[in-house]
Amino acid sequence: MADANINYNTAVSYWESTSSDVNGVLGGYGEQTPVPVVEQNGSLKFVRKLKSRMLISAEEEQIYGKRMMDFGAGIGRVTKNVLCEIEPKNPNMRFDLLEPATNFVMKMHDELNPLKEAGLLGDIYHMGMQDWPHNVTDGSMNNKKYWLIWCQWCLGQVPDNELIYLLERCKSLLVKNGTIIVKENTINSYSLEDQDEFDPQDSSVTRTDDKFRWIFEKAGFNLIACEKQKGLPAELFPVRMYALKPRDN
Ligand SMILES: C[S@@+](CC[C@H](N)C(=O)[O-])C[C@H]1O[C@@H](n2cnc3c(N)ncnc32)[C@H](O)[C@@H]1O
Repeated sequence: MADANINYNTAVSYWESTSSDVNGVLGGYGEQTPVPVVEQNGSLKFVRKLKSRMLISAEEEQIYGKRMMDFGAGIGRVTKNVLCEIEPKNPNMRFDLLEPATNFVMKMHDELNPLKEAGLLGDIYHMGMQDWPHNVTDGSMNNKKYWLIWCQWCLGQVPDNELIYLLERCKSLLVKNGTIIVKENTINSYSLEDQDEFDPQDSSVTRTDDKFRWIFEKAGFNLIACEKQKGLPAELFPVRMYALKPRDN
């Protein structure tokens, strides 16, 4: 299986060798290309259509805030340009980020300084998803629940079984009616020939659409919406956005 080749250290070494900017985190498709703006607008459109399905009780909002997690956050691009724009005037928004590459974490602090000054920045976890939250020892996970967990262009860094465990852990950290959004490169599932592909450069897998759906099902989620990102260069893998809700919500 393609995911058996994944090596966490090789992956982090690769990302730490890239530039700490949009071009670095997007593999050369930085601000000199239409990709960041097109895809950020696509994310906002997708999430706005889901808004009526993302309501939570006033009581939970008061206790937990409207906390979001940005997995594999790179330099904080998604938090800064997408997550912050979802409810920009809501003072209960809180933004947590997780990222294992040291250079990106350092840059993220600069990029998100305005959020920090506004008191909206939550916790930054300098670790891999496979270690979260069980290896968080600073008490910051106590009494914490998320309204939205965003996973973009990073889930290919963990093997299938680890991704299922991760999603199960996330499920228990959502408020009632919380949501997970996955935005990833995918391979169309047209026939049995279509299989996951391993990329030795960043030690990641690109999964088929069918594999993602199987993983979501295994982890106990219902897929409530799925869209393909439009407007990206034809040479890129198709990018799909999936919205997930715990099956037992
Ligand atoms: C393609 S970049 C995407 C960054 C960001 N999500 C964005 O869209 O701007 C992939 C990111 O995944 C991070 N990553 C690599 N291994 C990871 C792991 N095991 N857990 C979490 N993130 C990881 C990389 O360091 C890098 O920041």
